[in-house]
Amino acid sequence: EIKENEIITKTDVNGTVHKLLCVNGHYIATSWAERGFLPDPRISLPEIRDMEMRPDDILVCAYAKAGTHWLWEITKMLIKRSAEYEPLPKESVMLEFHLPEDFDDLESPRVLNTHLNLNQLPKQTLQKNSKIIHIQRNPKDVAVSLFCHRSHANLHVTKEWEQFLRVFETETDCLTKWFSYTLEWERKIDENKDLQILQLYYEDIKKNPVKEIQRLANFLEVDCDEVLAEHIADKCSFKNLKKANNEIKIDILNRNPEEKSDVAKSDFLYRKGEIGDWKNWFTVAQNERFNQSYKEWMKTSKLKFTYI
Ligand code: A3P
Repeated sequence: EIKENEIITKTDVNGTVHKLLCVNGHYIATSWAERGFLPDPRISLPEIRDMEMRPDDILVCAYAKAGTHWLWEITKMLIKRSAEYEPLPKESVMLEFHLPEDFDDLESPRVLNTHLNLNQLPKQTLQKNSKIIHIQRNPKDVAVSLFCHRSHANLHVTKEWEQFLRVFETETDCLTKWFSYTLEWERKIDENKDLQILQLYYEDIKKNPVKEIQRLANFLEVDCDEVLAEHIADKCSFKNLKKANNEIKIDILNRNPEEKSDVAKSDFLYRKGEIGDWKNWFTVAQNERFNQSYKEWMKTSKLKFTYI
């Protein structure tokens, strides 16, 4: 049960009031925390921060909707040196969806994933210099994808696209923090050049999957010739991964009929898988305003995103 004195109230740019919990600098809407699909973040996030890491753990990190599922599946295939789909969903190894003990029985190397920021990861990630793969995606496509995700998953705090975009640009709901997240990762990576972090871009993988898969294999110190890279690229193409994901879901449904509603909703995880869908959503005025917001937020950033 969440007590009144634990709740932080924020009013966003549209005047909507949000009730939030803040744990280790991570904001969660109380309505999400109370839905019961996450462990209690007041317990799980501090436990995750103190969790025991193995030296060969690998972490796939991304802001939501940057292509985490895709990159996680590719990484798992590289580790297995085989283009076979994982029988379990990515969410089963997502840090903020679990308690550390849920990962105890996993075989090494564990490929975990998270949307947490670098300073919210298990402390031992940096102490043990675990390998981190960070994927970025242009923020206009992220905004569209996140808006659609929240609509479908009924996680809507902001229901209209224009209102959502304003919140995305201003971060005034404290839940939608692409700019802060991206700047924080960039700063930490700059400050810690000796960390083992590989930065990838969604758009590069989309345009040149074999090259990027081989770059990832190099980082993971996994042998991957062009044949294997091509095979993985094909199995992880949007169309094939979406189909495989549906088959995995049907299998989960058959085994656990009570999970039906949640699993059925996950169709939106593989929505369009394109670069530039934002053009179907942004008006000219919204695009100009967004470009201006981007300039202001990211004035210290050296990152370059691809939008088409
Ligand atoms: P769209 O909503 O634009 O389609 P995440 O896994 O971080 O939640 O990101 C989800 C986004 O990645 C969705 O974007 C999804 O369709 C896209 N995606 C998933 N698998 C993909 C693939 N194999 N190729 C390209 N995009 C993919």
